Amino acid sequence: MQIIPLHPGFGVEIRGLDLAGTVSDADWSAITAAFHSKGVLVIRGCSLDEAGHIAFSRRLGELQIHVLTQFLTTPHPEIYVLSNALREGKPIGNHKEGMNWHSDWSYRAEPAVGSVLHGRICPPEGADTLFACMHQAWEALDDATQARILPLQAIHSYAGYYDRAFPDRPLTAEQRAATPDVTHPLVRRHPGNGRLALYVGREVVKEIAGLSPEDSAAMLDMLNAHAVSEQFVYRHRWQEGDIVAWDNRNTMHQATEYDDTKYIRLMHRTTLAGERPIPALA
Ligand SMILES: [Fe+2]
Repeated sequence: MQIIPLHPGFGVEIRGLDLAGTVSDADWSAITAAFHSKGVLVIRGCSLDEAGHIAFSRRLGELQIHVLTQFLTTPHPEIYVLSNALREGKPIGNHKEGMNWHSDWSYRAEPAVGSVLHGRICPPEGADTLFACMHQAWEALDDATQARILPLQAIHSYAGYYDRAFPDRPLTAEQRAATPDVTHPLVRRHPGNGRLALYVGREVVKEIAGLSPEDSAAMLDMLNAHAVSEQFVYRHRWQEGDIVAWDNRNTMHQATEYDDTKYIRLMHRTTLAGERPIPALA
């Protein structure tokens, strides 16, 4: 098994590993260590069924069920479907989800530690996923900006994001009630490596607590733009059978467009259970 860097400072590809076969304890240790230290883990050519995807994901952490229950698979509700495919005229998965820069479930009090996405049907062009390293984004800020934002908190709102992104298919009252706005530190500490990470997101972060609406909007615009500067970003071009696992505590990601009139896309995602972000100043 080989571990190949994908980007300077974060992201690795694991080669020479057959997840459908027997994986040694030593290889599992190396895989989980890479996941926790490198933010993004890519394994290509995985012919895993749903149970295999779930079993691999559980090696990385406990799983949680997505709030959008209409897009979960049967009999494996741990798997949340992203797709433009229809079955009997109804979408089988969420479509155009995650086109904003974000980390998964940041709108929860205990955001998902990570996610594991399996490419089942991948368009030959478009539909890349971009990842940005939030350790590098934090470390590249100037001293004055770091000092200013270190104690600040931001309000994350799923309903606010969803209403803007999908005005034609609003959340149910139950889904809305399950996702009230939450407050998180603007800078968080990764419990695994102790490094600080910028904790922002487009659309889902509504405002910075304690600032005027104008100052909050200007600060968020600046930080969101800085966080995804080209030097912090890895672009994943999907091939069928890819597994991509990421750590939401030190990365953000963004889905990109594809021609959904020409191609079918089918992605399965599992979500690693959450933990409360650790404030930088804790
Ligand atoms: Fe996402």
